[in-house]
Amino acid sequence: MADKPARGLADVVAASTALSDVDGVAGRLYYRGYDIHDLAGRTSFEECVHLLVRGTLPTTAELDTLVAELAEARTIGASAQAVLPHVIRSGTPMEALRTLVSALSVDDPDASDSGAEANQRKAVRLVAQMPMLVATYHAARTGGAAPDPVVDLGIAGNFLLQITGSRPSPRAAEIFDECLVLHADHTMNASTFTARVVAATLSDMHSAITAAMGALRGPLHGGANEAVMKTMQSIDGGVDGVEAYVRQTLDAHGKLMGFGHRVYKTEDPRATHLRRISEELADSTGDRGYYKMSRRMEEVVFDVKGLYPNVDFFAASVYHYLGIPTDLFTPVFAVSRMSGWTAHVIEQHLDNRLIRPDSEYIGERDQKWVPIEER
Ligand code: CMC
Repeated sequence: MADKPARGLADVVAASTALSDVDGVAGRLYYRGYDIHDLAGRTSFEECVHLLVRGTLPTTAELDTLVAELAEARTIGASAQAVLPHVIRSGTPMEALRTLVSALSVDDPDASDSGAEANQRKAVRLVAQMPMLVATYHAARTGGAAPDPVVDLGIAGNFLLQITGSRPSPRAAEIFDECLVLHADHTMNASTFTARVVAATLSDMHSAITAAMGALRGPLHGGANEAVMKTMQSIDGGVDGVEAYVRQTLDAHGKLMGFGHRVYKTEDPRATHLRRISEELADSTGDRGYYKMSRRMEEVVFDVKGLYPNVDFFAASVYHYLGIPTDLFTPVFAVSRMSGWTAHVIEQHLDNRLIRPDSEYIGERDQKWVPIEER
């Protein structure tokens, strides 16, 4: 008979990884041993991709090579393009994008090859294609065409260009680049665990990523950033309405989106950076409303419930200030997390064992079978 499970697998060590590490008590996050506080704002997303997928912070020559490979790989294949007119009728962008990611495999020459070199090539393609996919989807649903990416902008700057239709300021591109770095990997979060479970059956990278997209979508995971924005927009009275909203939600045993974390017992280090960025954008846009509401909300939630904001909380106002439509916030998370997901699939395939835990049986026992006509 199996033991009692840890509810939600809390505190269960489910995998060994050299990719990222969280110290939930101290509130620290590391990518391959580098502190996120050292990486954020100083390392580009492309460097971070090199770190996670290829194992090291790149030299200038290595970075140039990767940047060229990413530019070469970002074209969306004919099959995903063909699916696009159908999926723009999906209820949400994440549903559409989950299908589009799956369709990318049809035109990927390495689709069913899970060897080390093929996995490296697919990781580069998926990281490069994801922002293009979001932009192409957004253009299709709004009846236009996304502007072509330009050579002098990186993944972050080109994404803002393609989504907003205008070239971002250098600072906006830098800020969004930092956001992508902050979201790139995070140990055994639900979507990464999902990707590893799929990969561990020796299934292919696109299958693992498609499943991860499904896990990310939920509001307890990546869907929280969109839910935070919708919460802010729904509060009557702006800053003055925040306290009543928090108290009413908690009195009704509701969840406050963007707060709490399974692992962090203190401030999420990513929230520290996103709070600073939100304040900077509030000042530079002259639109301090959502930043002030966010600050008031974290104050009240901490006083009443002792919860800290997580990565999704200040990401909401940041993406809003950057001009990203609210329903694309979770797809933005996927644009970044694609680097972590693909690196985890590579790592799983390099040292694989089927992931197949046990379960505790809680149903009836010793049932007596009777023929259907006697039931
Ligand atoms: N609002 C209200 N109460 C909360 C919240 C919250 N956001 N988070 C935790 N709690 C309470 C919960 O009600 C429970 O209280 P009590 O012991 O009095 O019943 C206690 O804190 C433990 O909560 P839990 O839900 O058992 O904790 P968990 O580790 O299972 O859940 C969580 C972690 C992130 C799902 C949860 O904090 C939550 O639902 N947060 C809101 C959704 C969210 O922001 N998700 C993003 C997570 S971080 C980044 C990402 O993965 O995308």
